[in-house]
Amino acid sequence: SEAPLVLGIESSCDETAVALVRGDRVILAQAIASQEAEHAPYGGVVPEIAARAHAERLAPMLEKVMGDAGLSLADVDAIAATAGPGLIGGVMVGLVSAKALAMAADKPLLAINHLEGHALSPRLADAGLEFPYLLLLVSGGHCQILAVEGVGQYRRLATTIDDALGEAFDKTAKLLGLGYPGGPAVERLALEGDPKAVPLPRPLKGSREPHFSFAGLKSAVLRAVESGEHRPADIAASFQQAAVECLTDRLELALDTAGPFPALVVAGGVAANKVVRGALETLAARHAMRFTAPPLALCTDNAAMIAWAGCERLAIEGRDFAGDALDFQARP
Ligand code: KG4
Ligand code: ZN
Repeated sequence: SEAPLVLGIESSCDETAVALVRGDRVILAQAIASQEAEHAPYGGVVPEIAARAHAERLAPMLEKVMGDAGLSLADVDAIAATAGPGLIGGVMVGLVSAKALAMAADKPLLAINHLEGHALSPRLADAGLEFPYLLLLVSGGHCQILAVEGVGQYRRLATTIDDALGEAFDKTAKLLGLGYPGGPAVERLALEGDPKAVPLPRPLKGSREPHFSFAGLKSAVLRAVESGEHRPADIAASFQQAAVECLTDRLELALDTAGPFPALVVAGGVAANKVVRGALETLAARHAMRFTAPPLALCTDNAAMIAWAGCERLAIEGRDFAGDALDFQARP
């Protein structure tokens, strides 16, 4: 049987994205439009601006992607869209568009959880990655460790009790006057700094509570900035080092309590960070685990991961799968 073809739409935060992905891991066409310029003056994503930008861009991007692939909706097996979690206005724009296309073309609708998209995207990039795997999901909105046991089978082993790590990177960038988005800017500045120069806390390190916390680290960064005693590059490097140590410590605990796992996978926007990746690679090697980090373009928000999650669902649902109900609710 032929591999299914899924059209994917992502609009949960500040990227509008459309992709056509086939079940044999071929991305036929994709487009992504960042709204960085619109939100930069505010130092963060403004939900109303985001929703309007998605609404303006989505239709022309859909036409471009179908045109680039030389296909029409009739060739597609299903239409997948992020149904949450995310900024509700943007999620509604993408999901209602997918519903309209599904209805017009008489195709199944696949309402995809954004985090499931991140969780499964490593399998789009790496055909050899089998279930189960230990997943570190680190983005602007989420910071979780999941045992991914199969499609739709996720066991949460840890989550953050306050900020997500990407949020901590963004706030550190703001404190250092680096602008938005903060993660890449902090990583760049940290290259010129000494990770041992500024004493910063490693919240929950060594604790048997399986969680993350970054609020205390953020406050310590604020105090370090206000003291005027440190070079910004040293603060950036020391913050990044503290964050990485929190990640590896929490992963060690997850392995200790729920392991072993054959593979360690990192996904979400913070997975773009090379220091984070390096530390995880070392940890995986120490535990004789396979290590996978999707290419950067698949780590940050994109539509290929949403289409791919749709492909994964189609693969287990079978030929007669009717898809999700057309009144499926967008969730914040
Ligand atoms: O997954 P993502 O694109 O969006 C969601 O939050 O769902 O992640 C965006 C987050 C932002 O907080 C951004 O600052 C962070 O990922 N990020 C990074 C890097 N690139 C993006 N954080 C640290 N280092 C980076 N190189
Ligand atoms: Zn995301």
